[in-house]
Amino acid sequence: MLENIQTILSEIETFNSDKAEKIEEFRIKHLSKKGSIASLFENFRNVPVEQKKAVGQALNELKTVALAKINELKEKLTDTENASENGAIDLTLPGVPLKLGSRHPLSLVRNEILGIFERLGFTISEGPEIEDDWHNFSALNFPEEHPARDMQDTFFLSKNPDIVLHTHTSSVQVRDMETQKLPIRLVTPGRVFRNEAISARAHCIFHQIEALYIDKDVSFADLKQTLTYFAKEFFGSETKIRLRPSFFPFTEPSAEMDVTCSLCKGEGCNVCKGTGWLEILGCGMVHPNVLELNGIDKTMNTGFALGMGIERITMLKYGIKDLRLFFENDIRFLEQFIA
Ligand code: DAH
Repeated sequence: MLENIQTILSEIETFNSDKAEKIEEFRIKHLSKKGSIASLFENFRNVPVEQKKAVGQALNELKTVALAKINELKEKLTDTENASENGAIDLTLPGVPLKLGSRHPLSLVRNEILGIFERLGFTISEGPEIEDDWHNFSALNFPEEHPARDMQDTFFLSKNPDIVLHTHTSSVQVRDMETQKLPIRLVTPGRVFRNEAISARAHCIFHQIEALYIDKDVSFADLKQTLTYFAKEFFGSETKIRLRPSFFPFTEPSAEMDVTCSLCKGEGCNVCKGTGWLEILGCGMVHPNVLELNGIDKTMNTGFALGMGIERITMLKYGIKDLRLFFENDIRFLEQFIA
């Protein structure tokens, strides 16, 4: 009897399989009602009394080992099943591709606009987001009492109201005029801040691009030609522009530029509110006071400047209706923009 037990024990100990049917066969062979272990237990009553203790112990041990073996093999089996369901174990499967990121739509449009100006010979310049009153307002010919200096529009540093978060990229013009030699031909992207309530059409943070060209004999015709080139490059060669008189403290004369609506080709639709025109940017000839305030000889030099909001142009280009989407970083929104 003990010998029998020993043989079955070593059979059980050496058994191994990763096939569910084989494991089940093994279970039936040894652990079912008519299995080897059950029949050994049945024969137990024929064991001579003096051997009962040893044989009983050996039998119980055999049963424990067999049960442990079955459990171990079944556990391994479910692990492998799970793993292959997740695709982690089948080494012949192709790898899971890494998800490619995409550029933020504001970056795409900013880069496209910068590229157009670079092709015209403009160089990119950048300036600080935290500015003093001089660079953001005074050196740009803003009068003391101008409403843009008001608490409603500008974020001031509470400890020092002379320091602001720059409200437009025009402040970088001032830094450029201070540091660069003429001729100046720069394009300036930047993030700007205004104390506005956040809505589908306005945000307290947005992005602008500014261009500045100062040299001898820069004329309004140069400005108009630059604008026409930009509009056709960005919105398509059919695009026409129109200039409406406007006011900015730092330019004289000042204008706002509209382009023919790229959606309805000027026919009138709900994006252009039936006018056929879309307002794109502000521009003008650099005010002689600004040249003077920044140490540039206003009798020898002239210049033009222009500034545009990147959010607005991006919304028009992609038909985006809510400005807040740009700041929410929702992957479902962002992954739609492939460069
Ligand atoms: N700084 C103006 C704004 O934030 C935009 C602007 C208008 C910039 C006319 C210019 C310009 O350079 O000439 O609304």
